[in-house]
Amino acid sequence: MNPDYWHQRWRKGETGWHQDAINPHLQEYWPPPSLAPGARVLIPLCGKSLDMLWLAGEGYRVLGVEISPLGVETFFTENGLTPAISEDPPFRRYRVDELEILRGDFFHLRPDQVAGVSAVFDRASLIALPPAMRPAYALHLQDLLPAARILLVTLDYDQAEMAGPPFAVSEAEVRALYEERFVVKEIAALDIWAENPRYRERGLSRIMERVFSLHPRQQA
Ligand SMILES: C[S@@+](CC[C@H](N)C(=O)[O-])C[C@H]1O[C@@H](n2cnc3c(N)ncnc32)[C@H](O)[C@@H]1O
Repeated sequence: MNPDYWHQRWRKGETGWHQDAINPHLQEYWPPPSLAPGARVLIPLCGKSLDMLWLAGEGYRVLGVEISPLGVETFFTENGLTPAISEDPPFRRYRVDELEILRGDFFHLRPDQVAGVSAVFDRASLIALPPAMRPAYALHLQDLLPAARILLVTLDYDQAEMAGPPFAVSEAEVRALYEERFVVKEIAALDIWAENPRYRERGLSRIMERVFSLHPRQQA
């Protein structure tokens, strides 16, 4: 799942992960406990997610990170926004008021770029990555933001029934990735099989959507 894979998905318009509505779990479970109003929020692997607009509308300062130039540009044009563009090598920064997207590789993100971020919304980001990349993703996120609150949405199904992405990420894996430094709470588990014909057509006999709230252990 190298950058070329994602560039190609964007070029071909194969962006089936994109939701035309605000994520219902974000609306239900945001903000995480004790998050300050106006906090800075990171959306890793953000695509052209409308969740960024919702968070900005709620008064949060939003930082998206996306590797695809097409993905970033589409986000702004589809939403009628004209960003100010500046360079922050190896990233390019796009900014409209308090909404900012860094175009580049999440794995190259530096601490100075996430200064002041106190929460993360991860929907279709961890599960976009194959098993071998997920520990590095979770580690980088925790190293960058050891004190952040994280709202995480995963899909859980039998990986033998379908090749990802989206990949299956179970509660056990979330705990293995984060539990050393974060308190992990599963706050919802929904059977979404019946309402998802595209997953049934791809061969799944069951699929659950799981929502987790994570907060740093040292502040537990
Ligand atoms: C499955 S999509 C999810 C997008 C978004 N989270 C959403 O809910 O619509 C994954 C996105 O991550 C981007 N991506 C993949 N690898 C990345 C990386 N290493 N750094 C930044 N973005 C990446 C892809 O281009 C794609 O837009």
